[in-house]
Amino acid sequence: MLNKKTTETEEQTVAYAVEDHVAWVRFNRPEKRNAMSPKLNRQMMRVLDELEFRDDVAVLVLTGEGAAWSAGMDLKEYFRETEAQGLRGTRKAQSESYGWWRRLRWYQKPTIAMVNGWCFGGGYGPLFACDLAFAAEEARFGLSEINWGILPGGGASKVAVELMSFRRAMYHALMGENIDGKTAAEWGLVNEALPADKLTARVAEVAKVLSGKNPVALKATKDAIRRVREMTYDNAEDFLVRAQEAANSFDNEGRKEGIRQFIDDKSYKPGLGAYDKSRQKN
Ligand code: COA
Repeated sequence: MLNKKTTETEEQTVAYAVEDHVAWVRFNRPEKRNAMSPKLNRQMMRVLDELEFRDDVAVLVLTGEGAAWSAGMDLKEYFRETEAQGLRGTRKAQSESYGWWRRLRWYQKPTIAMVNGWCFGGGYGPLFACDLAFAAEEARFGLSEINWGILPGGGASKVAVELMSFRRAMYHALMGENIDGKTAAEWGLVNEALPADKLTARVAEVAKVLSGKNPVALKATKDAIRRVREMTYDNAEDFLVRAQEAANSFDNEGRKEGIRQFIDDKSYKPGLGAYDKSRQKN
């Protein structure tokens, strides 16, 4: 009988398809509940690379094949087998996983986590890396590290305090209890929770709205929201002036067109939706 582990290629660990300007990327180890192995981490970086500057990709959605979004780090392949290689093996595995999460946090296109099922521990890294997150009500979230004897590393502790109140983060990390999608939405881990059969349609709807907006403004905005969290008000004010001026050098016309369609054409209202990008000259 073939051994699944030795036959699994790196390419098989991540699946993706591009449809209507949305890249649907899937953790693809359903039989291992999409646990993140070194192979998967390396492949995910390749896939992000491949998709980031494609003209036919406006939004990236990260979801999971089967019953899980991701059961976190692979306890066997990510922890046990790399630790057996000594510090070098551990550090290499860390840099591969942290590397693609960091890449995703600052991705060129807006990103959406579509949490279809289990989301544990290390999974909080890519969850936070995605700009928006939608979950099935049936999904289950947990900082399970305490249950097998480590602290929530790989950024998971940081993600907990970034997204939840101090009391909730502490309870979540110390107790190792799971919460469902609805509670995850209430606690701020995701934007919304929906019945599983409505999840894809809602995410597709959000992705469609995003893909109609000015891409330079989207990138500048998502970076601004992440950057200013750690700044004083004055530093943020200054950063935002400079970030907008830098964005103008990439897309001066889009902004002018947005003003023109509102003020001159009266063809839309920015308070109610986005200007028509297709009418932009350059
Ligand atoms: N690392 C390694 N293997 C994992 C894994 C992980 N994080 N999560 C699941 N798997 C493997 C199981 O070992 C099992 O492998 P096998 O078929 O070779 O025996 C397979 O995936 C299916 O898992 P199983 O536990 O049978 O599925 P389930 O649907 O009954 O339970 C979970 C799902 C997610 C509740 C359970 O797998 C689990 O607790 N996983 C660990 C979660 C965790 O603590 N992650 C944090 C890591 S930082």
